Amino acid sequence: MHAALSWAPPADHLAPVYTQWPLDVVDGCGVYLNTRDGRKVLDLYGGHAVAALGYSHPRLLAALDGQARSLIFQSNAVPLEVRARAALRLTRFAGLGLDTAFFVNSGAEANENALKIALRSTKRRKVVAVEGSFHGRTAAAGAVTWGAAQKWYGFPQAPFVVEFVPRGDLAAIERIVGTDTAAVIVEPVQGVGGALDLGAPFLSALRSRCTAVRALLVFDEVQCGMGRTGFPFAANMYGIAPDMLTTAKALGAGFPCAALLLADPVASQLKADDLGTTFGGGPMACAMIETVVDIIESEGLMANVRKVSQQMRDTCVVGPVTGTQGAGFLLGLRTRRPAKDVQRELLEQHDILTGTSGDPHVVRVLAPYVLEPQHVEQLRDALASLPA
Ligand SMILES: Cc1ncc(COP(=O)(O)O)c(C=O)c1O
Repeated sequence: MHAALSWAPPADHLAPVYTQWPLDVVDGCGVYLNTRDGRKVLDLYGGHAVAALGYSHPRLLAALDGQARSLIFQSNAVPLEVRARAALRLTRFAGLGLDTAFFVNSGAEANENALKIALRSTKRRKVVAVEGSFHGRTAAAGAVTWGAAQKWYGFPQAPFVVEFVPRGDLAAIERIVGTDTAAVIVEPVQGVGGALDLGAPFLSALRSRCTAVRALLVFDEVQCGMGRTGFPFAANMYGIAPDMLTTAKALGAGFPCAALLLADPVASQLKADDLGTTFGGGPMACAMIETVVDIIESEGLMANVRKVSQQMRDTCVVGPVTGTQGAGFLLGLRTRRPAKDVQRELLEQHDILTGTSGDPHVVRVLAPYVLEPQHVEQLRDALASLPA
């Protein structure tokens, strides 16, 4: 596991639950990671879609430093201006009538709360998810994650009834989503499942069916949200408003935080003590959320994502790549050979870091939004030099 590191870990005190890349990172700047042995690695994976602004963004660091010096923490029992500002900024960024924010710490926690709200408010027992989904590792989020029960779920039973709809199957939506359904949870662009855009007809059909049977539609935009598709959220890209939306990862651009956004009919049912968390909505997280939205908007980063992603789609179908899928910088490069081999070759031979996915023939690109055309050229040249 540590074969390529120049230092030996003093002892193995970390839970052995992650396979790790042979990459000895000491720091990062812009879209590059620097390693101890002097390599400069182009990071097109961004720490599982978190490093949306790359590394060492000066405005992000200034906001982090400023907030830490002024007030590093206070709980939700204390009203804070920075928290109110972050909620206003984020809900405005989203639009979509999702005007209430509940701040939490991780994507799984956001989904856990969304599902709890849906089950409580509808008094129903079933949640529908989509094949290929990933929603997190906790009890409820894991229960709606495709394949978790067979691989790692671990709880003796799911906390509610779960059914999965095959991707793109409109007839299955009619059959499976009914008056017993509390919620449908879906990533509009699947991440772990293979950078796969589920498309307008499927998502509109979910919206219509949920409205018809009074089930709540939850968009999990933990990975595809916060500008990654070139729009604030994939919901904006499709013009489809869910009843709830969860987001995390790029939300803090490296500072751990997440949010659940709620439409008014759902938010208006909440009262004191229905939900809670210690760290969620802390001042550091809120300063980051406010600043990340500000940087995305003021630096025109969504336009950059759309432009540079298009360049990638236009030029990177070379070497082992046969096509592209996904949206913006949740882009899948479909490969003729196993994606893990292409990913390894890009890292070992060309110092380019990419990801894989649940689809063994998709290399996943989760690039920082500040990526430039020259970096796409670097990727294209590297791919072109690999065996087809
Ligand atoms: C779409 C989606 N939902 C939820 C999660 C879980 O987020 P977290 O790891 O922050 O709990 C992830 C993580 O990869 C994700 O991609």
